[in-house]
Amino acid sequence: MIKIAPSILAADFGRLGEQVTRAQEAGADLIHIDVMDGRFVPNITIGPAVVEAVAKVAAIPLDVHLMIVEPERYLRRFADSGADSISVHIEACTHLHRVLGQIHEVGCRAGVALNPHTPATALREVLDDADIINVMTVNPGFGGQRFISGMTIKLRTLREMVAGRDIEIEVDGGINAETLPIAMAAGATIAIAGTCIFQHEKGIAAGIAELRRAASMATADEES
Ligand code: DX5
Ligand code: ZN
Repeated sequence: MIKIAPSILAADFGRLGEQVTRAQEAGADLIHIDVMDGRFVPNITIGPAVVEAVAKVAAIPLDVHLMIVEPERYLRRFADSGADSISVHIEACTHLHRVLGQIHEVGCRAGVALNPHTPATALREVLDDADIINVMTVNPGFGGQRFISGMTIKLRTLREMVAGRDIEIEVDGGINAETLPIAMAAGATIAIAGTCIFQHEKGIAAGIAELRRAASMATADEES
């Protein structure tokens, strides 16, 4: 079954603890935390202090997505704040192999995120060093964007590349009940979703339930 990782970027930051608790009670598998520095991406968001606050209320793993330059400078800080996995952007790392090792050294699972233009093959030589691949299905920086459908080709390529390895494939950006089955069919094993969960008109639990319904129908389609 696909894992669902609500992205708190779309949450009400004034009630963050309560919203994370609600997502967890509604069956979220992970909490996804988007860290932006205003340099790698145009937006500025969350730092280690907020990760620490989320860690106090969340019993499920925290998946920290660093959209920052020189991510190696902050790995220890985020690990100490409660991150379980840390993803860095391949485009932000001159020495990606070393950075993935450093993520393991601070005790976290290591992820690599790929911007839409970056080919799957760019990480072929580090597959032994990664636990997670984050396939950005929007240009990073903002929530609420449209899923780039061409990314399904990349997902399929990655599924073949990682076959037989213990590597999760995340999809991040524009995921909703329509795009989730498409991403799943192409190989995604973790769905990151912000807007369609935290801004669902009927609330967070309804947003997660809608994704689960879409996922179970997609699985049924595949099996039939
Ligand atoms: C975008 C972030 C995403 C974002 C997804 O840069 O990496 O995690 O929160 O938000 P939605 O689901 O609204 O596209
Ligand atoms: Zn993200």
